Amino acid sequence: MKILYVASEVAPYSKSGGLADVAHALPRALSARGHEVRVVTPLYATARIPNAEDTGRSIRLRFPFGEPRAGIRVARPEPRHEVWFLEHHGFYGRPGLYGDGHGEYGDNHRRFAFLAVGALSAAQAMRFAPDVVHLNDWQTGLGALALARGFRGTSVGEARSLFTIHNLAYQGLFSKAVMADLGLPWDVFTPGGLEFYDQVNFMKSGLAFADALSTVSPTYAQEIQTQAYGCMLEGMLRARAHELHGILNGIDVHEWDPHADPYLPAPYDAHDLSGKAVCKAELRHRFGLPDPDHVSDAPLFGVVTRLAGQKGISLLLEGIPTLLDHGAEVVVLGNGERRYEDALRSLSAARSDRFRAFIGFEPALSHLVEGGADFFLMPSLYEPSGLNQMYSLRYGTVPVVRATGGLEDTVRDADLPGGTGFKFRDFDVGGLLWASGRAMDWWWHRRDDLDALRRRGMLQDWSWESSAATYERLYASLAG
Ligand code: ADP
Ligand code: GLC
Repeated sequence: MKILYVASEVAPYSKSGGLADVAHALPRALSARGHEVRVVTPLYATARIPNAEDTGRSIRLRFPFGEPRAGIRVARPEPRHEVWFLEHHGFYGRPGLYGDGHGEYGDNHRRFAFLAVGALSAAQAMRFAPDVVHLNDWQTGLGALALARGFRGTSVGEARSLFTIHNLAYQGLFSKAVMADLGLPWDVFTPGGLEFYDQVNFMKSGLAFADALSTVSPTYAQEIQTQAYGCMLEGMLRARAHELHGILNGIDVHEWDPHADPYLPAPYDAHDLSGKAVCKAELRHRFGLPDPDHVSDAPLFGVVTRLAGQKGISLLLEGIPTLLDHGAEVVVLGNGERRYEDALRSLSAARSDRFRAFIGFEPALSHLVEGGADFFLMPSLYEPSGLNQMYSLRYGTVPVVRATGGLEDTVRDADLPGGTGFKFRDFDVGGLLWASGRAMDWWWHRRDDLDALRRRGMLQDWSWESSAATYERLYASLAG
């Protein structure tokens, strides 16, 4: 099949979260299965593209606000897998992907209307007639409307569309003045279309006009149909429940392999964990934790995360001091909301004997946290899929998670046969401390059981193979 895959971030070129990992790894897995995949994404100023060639092709779109034009550059990560970069300096030649220290960029509606519609034009310009256009998150939502309305009779117009929700909370909300600025048809400014409490909602364009919908875990697919998780879109999602698929993300098992990870000081695997102790020593050293005395055998909890409400940072801030008092050490790598960064810095200063936070976005260090920690904390309020718990399982870093979304689907509680981690349900600090308390109990009193549990997690298969096959079946059913 021919698949046009559109995403606002793609690893390793640009990344703010898991979407980038998925937009790299799923196309890779699909192309390995024999499909032709073209990924369309912006050429950001910060993009790291060693060998992007100029294709000599370009696109030009007509909007009431102007007629932006972009060149198309291409990278070819592997056979049948190309990444097309839309090169528009005015829109994308900035330091941030979506905003800067002052907030979201004021023209994001133009930047991402250009990406979503531009991707379809790029397919025409590159003479690629897709069977399926796979859109991701609000930044690409207008692609579904454009495909349904604007490309009839063209080589792209025959394609069917799939819209994937990676995070329902980010919807791309703009004032209704955007309708005129972008020349969007007013007949879609309805509750069943783009209208959302008198504003324009780009995600709703995907939800309303794509031929099928998906999200990144089976449990999240159910959760978002409820008021608690639906972000006020649960009605619309329930109405399309039979076309909403929950397909769990995979992980890139080449990039995340403790046996061959260039960022780790020593390799290890489920059969020989001795290298993990070397990783732990290096991690403690890098975070500046004091040298352990000869009796110290503290369990080390790691966290790697965007610092956002979604991730349960408030629970961490409340719970970590108690964990430290009970003999744990904790390291956090994260960046994001200012209030959380500040709070973590203060805690780091106050409890530097056992707690350290590194504020920043550091992929290399994130590998070391996965390699060196004993446990990994993910107390998310909601988690559409989550990748870090799967990296953790593979790295023998036992996950301690709240049972929601993809965390529910990937971690099995230690108290059950075949358990792989520690889970709690209630989003409160009591829940977090209960689960991490059990983890520490296993660390100190049931080490053999813990080792068996750890090895079980390491031997699980989280590669993209099975999910890529599921997407393939879905694409095939859409394309007829
Ligand atoms: P989300 O996309 O909601 O942030 P995921 O678990 O799906 O959550 O993916 C997060 C990705 O971003 C993972 O690859 C994780 O390692 C990475 N990541 C998050 N924060 C940081 C950070 N501060 N430094 C390096 N990598 C990070
Ligand atoms: C979103 C979600 C995360 C998911 C990622 C990739 O950022 O928050 O749970 O893993 O998208 O699908």
